[in-house]
Amino acid sequence: MFQLKEGAHLHISRGIILHDDIAGQSAGRFLKTNGGVPIFIHRASLEDYVLHMKRGPAIAYPKDACTMLLLMDITEGDHVLESGSGSGAMTLFLSRAVGSKGRVLSVEIREDHLKRATLNYECWRTSWSLRRGVEWPDNVQFHNADLCTASWLLAGHGFHAVALDLIHPQLVLPTVLPHLHTGAVCAVYLANITQVIDLLEGLRCSALPLLCERIIEVPVRDWVVAPAMWKDRGYYSRKAPILEENQRKEAEEETSDETDRELATEQHPTFRTVPYIARPHHQQSSHTAFLVKLRKCV
Ligand SMILES: C[S@@+](CC[C@H](N)C(=O)[O-])C[C@H]1O[C@@H](n2cnc3c(N)ncnc32)[C@H](O)[C@@H]1O
Repeated sequence: MFQLKEGAHLHISRGIILHDDIAGQSAGRFLKTNGGVPIFIHRASLEDYVLHMKRGPAIAYPKDACTMLLLMDITEGDHVLESGSGSGAMTLFLSRAVGSKGRVLSVEIREDHLKRATLNYECWRTSWSLRRGVEWPDNVQFHNADLCTASWLLAGHGFHAVALDLIHPQLVLPTVLPHLHTGAVCAVYLANITQVIDLLEGLRCSALPLLCERIIEVPVRDWVVAPAMWKDRGYYSRKAPILEENQRKEAEEETSDETDRELATEQHPTFRTVPYIARPHHQQSSHTAFLVKLRKCV
């Protein structure tokens, strides 16, 4: 992922492309490096952006960030509290979900992290306006504060949801809870199951009005589905079973819809002549987080 700059070069293992040769080209096309190797160029989606943007602390991964939006049932127009801002990945997903009518208050204790999150947010907004010709809603307020002692900051706010991704969430809940609407959800992102236990034990000891409704992990498995090829790039050939005459007749009778069969053969004469391989991709992301859904009760 890179930003186009006049006169700059993109150096990759397969050669060089001039940024000037990319500028003005529509996204989703192949361009050739100086060595003639085709390179596919497209714009970064929000998922690409958060995975490749500069990071301070570890981000909430897109699969987890999106599931947190579901757990909190975030809707356009919502007012949401988030902490810590970290690198700003979760912030961007929240900003998109609440839209131009909603607001996100993002609180971060460390100045350097806050700076990183703000830069990433602004950079995404700039690229959005360049690409779409319209502004990304400026709906996030970043604040440098310790959420444990930020009652002054939250005064007057009422939140439809709270998203927490910080090391000891149980310590900030007493400050946050008075500002969360009753019946609303606080979603917590925690890397280790021992932190989940500390959170639940913290809730038990402090007797806060929160019900733990769910503790989940979000596994996503990438798959490879592709025509099976030999090393020389030739296709495997599909081997039909050798059937006795009566078995063959029975099989033909089973595929009785002539029109469909003829159409398929006419339009895709080679359809299903090549066998496929289908298996989980060898590169998988490992465990990222546990997500805890806490609902405020009366
Ligand atoms: C793992 S990062 C959050 C990453 C973020 N969700 C993202 O997607 O980029 C955790 C952040 O919480 C901040 N933090 C920890 N304790 C805090 C507190 N009491 N108040 C505010 N921020 C806090 C840390 O400084 C750190 O930047």
